Amino acid sequence: MTIDSELDLEVLKRIGKIVAQTLQEMINHVRPGITTAELDEVGARLLKKNGARSAPMLVYNFPGATCISINDEAAHGIPGERTIQPGDLVNIDVSAELEGYFADTAATISVPPTSALHQKLISCTQNALQRAIHSARAGQPMNVIGRKIEAEARHCGFQILRELNGHGVGRNIHEEPQNVSNYFNPFDRRPLSDGLVITIEPFLSTGTSRIKTGSDGWTLSTIDGSLCAQFEHTLVIRRGRPIIITTP
Ligand code: CO
Ligand code: CO
Repeated sequence: MTIDSELDLEVLKRIGKIVAQTLQEMINHVRPGITTAELDEVGARLLKKNGARSAPMLVYNFPGATCISINDEAAHGIPGERTIQPGDLVNIDVSAELEGYFADTAATISVPPTSALHQKLISCTQNALQRAIHSARAGQPMNVIGRKIEAEARHCGFQILRELNGHGVGRNIHEEPQNVSNYFNPFDRRPLSDGLVITIEPFLSTGTSRIKTGSDGWTLSTIDGSLCAQFEHTLVIRRGRPIIITTP
């Protein structure tokens, strides 16, 4: 969507805050021994308490309130009986709706003991997101986002999961513009316009750039079992710095 009233921005900020707080609360509960279903329940309760509805459930009939993806799983991991282990990389993606507005955020954390590789992957992915956000301004072409992410990934020696990307958001969980690419596409000169609401969500991996869909029909994993991390914010494009909507 494109923000064209104070009301748009106000409600969007409310749902942005709710998903960000939900993500933070779930992160606070990550520990060895907890199941991903229990973790999801923490998120589900908080969304409900705030009057928000899980977007993946509402829009896609996803079998969970949030997506929890571990180690080589990149996205759309289904909460269930799997138990978090020491040394796991845990990705939590929270998206939800409030009064017809949607916001989407995600983070990846390492369960101690944290290897140097985990730490590097996480910080590189965070840096990629921050740099892309900083460059995303009205008047720039869409491909500045992928350009920044690709530069950061290359600097760290990591790959980009090329089939995954950011997207328009606001009145639906996924809307125009589709395919906010995480790698540099020289042909993507679509303009970033003032008020446009998008996600930026780099997915970096320690090995492959490709993913496969699991037998459950949902879970997306790296094809070679390599580790991956993703961080995601919803933001509003401005002429200056974008407004990050998904802050607690
Ligand atoms: Co997301
Ligand atoms: Co998203």
